[in-house]
Amino acid sequence: MGTLLKNISTLLTLAPAAAKGGRGVKEADLGILSNASLLIEKDKIAWVGTDKKLPKEFAKKNHKEINMKGRTVLPGFVECHTHLIFAGNRAAEFEMRNQGASYQEIAAKGGGILSTMKNTRSASLNDLVKTGQQRADHFISQGVTTLEIKSGYALNLKDELKCLQAGQKISGLRTVNTFLGAHALPPEYKTYEEYLSFLADEVLPVVAKKKLARRVDVFVEKGFFPVEASEKYLRKAQSLGFDLLVHADQLSLSGGSDLAVKLGALSGDHLLQVTEKEISSLAKSEVTAVLLPAADLYMKVKYPAARQMIDARARVALATDFNPGTSPTQDLNLVGLLARLEMKMTLPEVITAYTVGAAHALNLQGEVGSLEVGKSADILCIEQDWKTLFYSVGESSKKLVFQSGKKVFTNL
Ligand code: NIG
Ligand code: FE
Repeated sequence: MGTLLKNISTLLTLAPAAAKGGRGVKEADLGILSNASLLIEKDKIAWVGTDKKLPKEFAKKNHKEINMKGRTVLPGFVECHTHLIFAGNRAAEFEMRNQGASYQEIAAKGGGILSTMKNTRSASLNDLVKTGQQRADHFISQGVTTLEIKSGYALNLKDELKCLQAGQKISGLRTVNTFLGAHALPPEYKTYEEYLSFLADEVLPVVAKKKLARRVDVFVEKGFFPVEASEKYLRKAQSLGFDLLVHADQLSLSGGSDLAVKLGALSGDHLLQVTEKEISSLAKSEVTAVLLPAADLYMKVKYPAARQMIDARARVALATDFNPGTSPTQDLNLVGLLARLEMKMTLPEVITAYTVGAAHALNLQGEVGSLEVGKSADILCIEQDWKTLFYSVGESSKKLVFQSGKKVFTNL
């Protein structure tokens, strides 16, 4: 016996967008069905199609039926870049930046990531899980069913492991842990090279052995991790079986996106400084371009060239980059709104970026991102027309969210 969502007014399968690998997507690729049904069996989608084609034998099977008349159904959102686990906030620095201090100046004086490091090192596992879960619940209430969670605010062995453990204790949605020990240089080390050797020799093997993360990220940037040492470090991570990703070309063109392509990383993230040359090699690769416009808004910098990337057939994902420094917001609507207003992305492109594109960034494209038979029943049901998505910032619309076939949120 399953759960049959019946009389769905509009169902966006995203199946054609998934078949195209999330590239070059038009409205027709949203796979829009009118008057449709979807059958959930256990944690998977067992059937999807128009009501007219509903198999007769379903009537005999005693499925629990939910009438979805007037509602829109689409894949749950995939939030593929967050720094969910941290303690404290950086509101005072935000004020300083608004009064003229730069992000790098604040970081060089021991503020920035290092100020969050102090709070995070002294927080208990329980505290980190508690605040992390509250934040995760807020994502779920926006229709997020898969959430990436980075460590990277502890920068020592003991507390980085604590942060990864906290990430693994987050529940209510599918989580993907990423090890971002290479986020900033902690005070215990003099050079980035020394710190990366420590991470490679003493931390990565422990993270791998304890299965605390399956991905490794590094902040490649002038004044942060240099590209050559990062390459060596990421190759070591790759040899231990980790998937790779790179915080790339955010504040300056520093070789991060080229490195992502060279190493076959899953994603290059930020990418606002890239030129035509990097865009063309990204487009030819399997690297997903993860764009984070809320961080660009808070940093008062330009937005990434999404239009050129998409037109060159790069695969694009969008995410909040939720973190206390450069993007203290969890608002998916704001991200989608900026993509439309400032990056010339169409609404079908934004929806695809937040589902199929983001699923690829997490190497989960076989499980999530579209509503197809055999994929996980990660489903967002909304009262409104899909054309009103990513339109009204600050709204909290009525929704019902299933993750792996379980109802995880409703305010219908
Ligand atoms: O994604 N770029 C590096 N990391 C974060 C910022 C972290 C912080 O400032 O706390 C980002 O923007
Ligand atoms: Fe980030």
